[in-house]
Amino acid sequence: MPDDELVRRLRAAGCVFAEREAQLLRAATDDPRELDALTARRVAGQPLEHVLGWAEFCGLRLAVAPGVFVPRHRSELLVDLAARRLRTGDVLVDLCCGTGALAAALSARVPGLLVHAADVDPTAVRCARANLPGAHVHTGDLFAALPAHLAGAVAVVVANVPYVPSAQVALMPPEAREHEASAGLDGGADGLDVLRRVVAGVGRWLRPGGALVVEVGEAQVPAAVRAARAAGLEAATATDEDGETTALVALRPSAEPAAAGPAQTARSSGVRPVTAV
Ligand SMILES: C[S@@+](CC[C@H](N)C(=O)[O-])C[C@H]1O[C@@H](n2cnc3c(N)ncnc32)[C@H](O)[C@@H]1O
Repeated sequence: MPDDELVRRLRAAGCVFAEREAQLLRAATDDPRELDALTARRVAGQPLEHVLGWAEFCGLRLAVAPGVFVPRHRSELLVDLAARRLRTGDVLVDLCCGTGALAAALSARVPGLLVHAADVDPTAVRCARANLPGAHVHTGDLFAALPAHLAGAVAVVVANVPYVPSAQVALMPPEAREHEASAGLDGGADGLDVLRRVVAGVGRWLRPGGALVVEVGEAQVPAAVRAARAAGLEAATATDEDGETTALVALRPSAEPAAAGPAQTARSSGVRPVTAV
């Protein structure tokens, strides 16, 4: 297929970055029939990442299979927040790991982490195993998937849980709602069903001073913070520079008044303590 024909087909299908996508599709195969087949899948509306079989996240190329949640650049905020709380040798848990993008980025950022990741979707778990060599990747429902010996030992649980309110899933772009499993998107009536379960259960797994870092919608902050406090955690929130992504940082209180307590860390790191929710 000539270059301009490929770009024309992609543009006609609504691909905004048609030239760049054409380059990536061409790089994926030397076989003209396979290129035609890949292009047909993209033109039919599949996410480019599912067609290529990989997604870029934090400078890494990660395997992603059809149906599996494609890591979003907006989730890099979780990586920044979690990395500040991790040192070599620490235990990191990536819950609701999908491709394992967050754990992969954190492993690249902080060498020598002991990484556990878990997801309920077996296809996601297969991707995460490919993307997280050396990590323990478990299949199952939230904390039930983790080995018992991690209780009280985890420095950071990072979790990009599904948090779209059920009624809003239908408003998402077709690439997401038609090609990513709804279990990865739909967070129940107010979007916080999974988050509430994570917040309620995380205290048993965190070491004293350990942190849960989880993405939320801006409008969900008050309810998420209330849930964290009800579970005995100290809550703060952070927003990225573009104001697009918000995260809840919930700490298991430390036995000692540590120098890196939540309020102090919050001021020096861009995480803002929540005072009025
Ligand atoms: C929003 S996606 C995030 C994936 C990945 N962490 C990322 O940021 O790219 C949410 C993931 O949670 C998983 N999930 C949903 N409910 C779950 C549950 N009860 N236990 C474990 N994983 C769950 C879905 O399969 C999906 O992979």
